[in-house]
Amino acid sequence: MTVPTVRRPAAPAARGARVEARGFGWHHPGRETAALRDLDLVVEPGERVLLLGPSGAGKSTLLHALAGVLHDDDGQSGSGELLLDGTLPARARGRAGLVQQDPESQVVLSRIGDDTAFGLENLAVPHEQIWPRVRAALDAVGLDLPLDHSTAALSGGQKQRLALAGAVAMSPGLLLLDEPTANLDPAGVRQVRDAVVSCLDRSGATLVVVEHRVAVWAEVVDRVVVLGRDGGITHDGPPGRMLGAAVEELSRAGVWVPGRVPATREPARASAGPAGCPAAGPSATGRPGADREPLLSTAGLGVSRSQPSARQLRARRRERRRDRPVDDAVTGRDLPTAVAGVELGLRPGRALALIGPNGAGKSTLALTVAGLLAPVRGTVRAHPLLDRGAGPDPLEWSGRELVARIGTVFQEPEHQFLRATVRAELEHGPRLAGTPAAERERRTDELLHRLRLAHLADANPFTLSGGEKRRLSVATVLATDPDVLVLDEPTFGQDALTWAELVDLLVELIDAGTSVLVVTHDEDFVRALGAEVLALGRAPEVGGAARAAPPAVPAASAPPAASTAPVPPIVPADPAASTAPTVPAARTVPTAPAASAVAAAPAVPARRESVR
Ligand SMILES: Nc1ncnc2c1ncn2[C@@H]1O[C@H](COP(=O)(O)OP(=O)(O)OP(=O)(O)O)[C@@H](O)[C@H]1O
Ligand SMILES: [Mg+2]
Repeated sequence: MTVPTVRRPAAPAARGARVEARGFGWHHPGRETAALRDLDLVVEPGERVLLLGPSGAGKSTLLHALAGVLHDDDGQSGSGELLLDGTLPARARGRAGLVQQDPESQVVLSRIGDDTAFGLENLAVPHEQIWPRVRAALDAVGLDLPLDHSTAALSGGQKQRLALAGAVAMSPGLLLLDEPTANLDPAGVRQVRDAVVSCLDRSGATLVVVEHRVAVWAEVVDRVVVLGRDGGITHDGPPGRMLGAAVEELSRAGVWVPGRVPATREPARASAGPAGCPAAGPSATGRPGADREPLLSTAGLGVSRSQPSARQLRARRRERRRDRPVDDAVTGRDLPTAVAGVELGLRPGRALALIGPNGAGKSTLALTVAGLLAPVRGTVRAHPLLDRGAGPDPLEWSGRELVARIGTVFQEPEHQFLRATVRAELEHGPRLAGTPAAERERRTDELLHRLRLAHLADANPFTLSGGEKRRLSVATVLATDPDVLVLDEPTFGQDALTWAELVDLLVELIDAGTSVLVVTHDEDFVRALGAEVLALGRAPEVGGAARAAPPAVPAASAPPAASTAPVPPIVPADPAASTAPTVPAARTVPTAPAASAVAAAPAVPARRESVR
């Protein structure tokens, strides 16, 4: 890859901060090894640096140190020196602006204007300057919404922009961004990157940005710095040199370099004869294989985060018992939907990928299929081979019944951590499902080893790095060996090596008969799983007028995907599969307006019971 020279307009009066690390190290309390060691690094004012390195290498730790938010309470954690404009980062108030790995955790106030103004108020900026700076920052990041717009009504990508606006408004001399585009659709990635560049052009600030995928930032940074697994710097130089001479070495170390996808285990069905006719016969796990009927299927499914009330769900049960239709207002079927008319089937030994832009309703659809949200309209039905006597409606299953049948990984890993150590977290599900102790231990050890978490077995899940948390959340559902896996962005924050191990594990499970539904923006992942693709269309701008949802459109009459929805350039892995006779078509569906549905989004219910 050729990397163009960075050309930029003359920066205004140099406001960039200077970073200087001399033998700097950081050892998190309770950990066997240091996260960072012997770091020597000088970043000159206005320089733009891309910080790379494998998951757990210490990238976020370094950003936190630069932002002055790491505290060495007992004097045992820090070593060496780290200075910002010649002073300790904690004393350089307002000089560094940090956008954290998880933008969700950075939303503090309920209106976007107040949220953006929060940092300025903390810095005691004169009142008359605050609102013009807030508006300018929101405009700079492309968040064109009224100041009183609810922060709860933002999609993941918009929250990422909001966090960036909060940092930009403070006019920091050093902008620190931790995987700012990891959760964005391809168009959002470019928009956010361009917004960052134009803010830097205007302010002259220094940039340190962490990202696993190099291609997006390579053409706009001056320098690439790579941290190794032991927390020291292994490479430092201009992007052109890094992506030329050092590319082999970086690739071996697990850094994602443009144009290289790690080799992974090929799904068996890729060599299993004609599309849609995989090798027949029951799988090794005893899961159904011969008929390939879907384990879970939907009919006329319409979904929303605005959930029917308990009273409306009771009315639905009464309706079912009496077999007499009840008015939609009584059953909550008149609620607006984010996605409507979905007809999909999750077959054993197959993967289905839900793709589409931020805010299209992918996570809501996945949670509904997983039995964690109630459908607004239509149904989710389990095959008798899956329900095994628990009944056809997953929403009605108990937690214990659900955990052994459908395993779900949420978009936010923290939402599902329950125990104090990584090992206990992994054993929790199997314990609940009644797995014998010896089997539980064997499976836990295998997952710890394969997902590179063994050295963290006794760590508290909440202290893991972003990528480690993600792997743990996936491992916790694999531990219970459910028949159906529903995974929301499972490859988020992974380096090339941990990505490949995750893919291998999933392909093994798929080959053994597990059915997998993934929500993802990761095209390489879709291809590696040999997944069929269901593309959801673009949601209208959140914040636009809420329109009444059109009635659910049966998929049979739904217009074809390509004509209705701009979709990311993912080619269906197996276009013929949707015409296979046993497959209820995984079709693209027209999306109903998401405005009001997303706007009213409550957090994913922590307990299943709360959605009943
Ligand atoms: N608060 C903490 N307490 C204890 N250990 C921590 C804490 N935060 C991070 N660590 C550990 O320090 C190491 C470096 O973590 P860090 O978050 O800096 O990695 P990273 O390079 O950002 O990884 P990722 O790419 O997965 O986000 C990891 O082993 C992590 O588990
Ligand atoms: Mg990190």
